[in-house]
Amino acid sequence: MDLKSLIREIPDFPKPGIVFRDITTLLRDPDGLRYTIDFFALQCINNGLNADYIVGMESRGFIFGSPLAYKLGAGFIPARKKGKLPAAVHSVEYDLEYGTDSLEVHQDALPPGSRVLIVDDLIATGGTASATAKLVEKIGCELLGFGFIIELRDLQGRKYLPDVPIISLIEY
Ligand code: PRP
Ligand code: ADE
Repeated sequence: MDLKSLIREIPDFPKPGIVFRDITTLLRDPDGLRYTIDFFALQCINNGLNADYIVGMESRGFIFGSPLAYKLGAGFIPARKKGKLPAAVHSVEYDLEYGTDSLEVHQDALPPGSRVLIVDDLIATGGTASATAKLVEKIGCELLGFGFIIELRDLQGRKYLPDVPIISLIEY
């Protein structure tokens, strides 16, 4: 299936010069959504990414991370934006293609030593994914790899990630 044809391009959002890759047009397509999750799961299995837990980043990482965890028989852990999680957290600040932000996970979210796959809709500069890897490290888990639906190759985000397998389904 041509997944790229289901991603809409919005020029100059949220700032001039950014071409926003809009996944809502993929999500609303029943066949496209099913194919994306099935193909994502297959890629994880083929790359030996048999994680105990998937950590997904707020908010678009939740959309793909949860069904992927279900499909792979893993648990799902939300990495949330600052101030949203109720119990004690680990926190990391990071830079975005269009600003700065913080991500947090519960300190007791995962048993130390668990095998983790980090999942998001898109990697741009790699700031979000790299911050999430730091959170996984703080909890004392083993990072198996990263999975993204979309990779913006020009921004070279993968350069800033730890040396583990990185899967992306669509590249620009
Ligand atoms: C977007 C996207 C990734 C991140 C990628 O999230 O969903 O998480 O940016 O950019 P990076 O590789 O430069 O860090 P955003 O922070 O816009 O939040 P959202 O998912 O709530 O829309
Ligand atoms: N997150 C960071 N950069 C993005 C882009 N160009 N399109 C969609 N989401 C993004």
